[in-house]
Amino acid sequence: MERIVILSGAGLSAESGLDTFRDAGKLWAQYRIEDVATPEAFARDPALVHRFYNMRRAQAASARPNPAHRALARLQADWPGEVTLVTQNVDGLLEAAGASPIHMHGALSRAICAACSYRWDAPAEMSPDDPCPACTAPATRPDIVWFGEMPHEMERILSAIHSCDLFAAIGTSGQVYPAAGFVEEARRSGAETAELNLTNSDMSRAFDAHITGPASNIVPAWVEALLQPKR
Ligand code: OAD
Repeated sequence: MERIVILSGAGLSAESGLDTFRDAGKLWAQYRIEDVATPEAFARDPALVHRFYNMRRAQAASARPNPAHRALARLQADWPGEVTLVTQNVDGLLEAAGASPIHMHGALSRAICAACSYRWDAPAEMSPDDPCPACTAPATRPDIVWFGEMPHEMERILSAIHSCDLFAAIGTSGQVYPAAGFVEEARRSGAETAELNLTNSDMSRAFDAHITGPASNIVPAWVEALLQPKR
């Protein structure tokens, strides 16, 4: 086995204190997707959308990587083949642990101008009046992929999935496409598939192997087993 692709979701960062979306009482029980996570919401009420992401940016800034983030960084560094980490998470905890992930849903730490597409490091607080540093238009938004928008780096992600030997999904409910379809893509390409999650997800049946438990326990143990020399 040489090439590994790992898709992560909010469950990876849950034990770092960051809320998941669909678990009971979490983000999508407190906010409506159509109020804070669509281009239409931003056009209607940019101040509300900025407040939501300013709050999440502040929470992410005070969070620390947990043992699961650190184990994935170790796997990426020590695996003799290639490890592509694809995350739906917009926090920077994988980077803080030393890993290099692809942020398919964007990053709280980045801003983008809706007028000219220039990108820069987001300030702690963004507001609808902020001018773009490049074109000065007051059209700055978080560099987050909203519902109805195309995730970042899809070509690179699909090419890694189509040539991988093992595809694993960690801490994701499998309810949001295109990420939810990656396991089928990997299966069609002949990869082994494994799901690591607190409980079985809607997508569980699509995976060959299942490891259940909190990410901070199961991910380090899984990484340790992968890195164990085979006899
Ligand atoms: P969800 O909130 O939908 O799912 C979180 C998953 O993590 C669930 O399957 C939980 O069982 C699991 N989980 C919770 N705590 C865990 C723990 N300690 N260890 C392991 N697993 C745990 O989050 P995502 O699947 O990431 O997109 O959501 C996908 C996308 O939907 C997000 O990127 C976001 C959201 O709407 C956008 O906003 C565009």
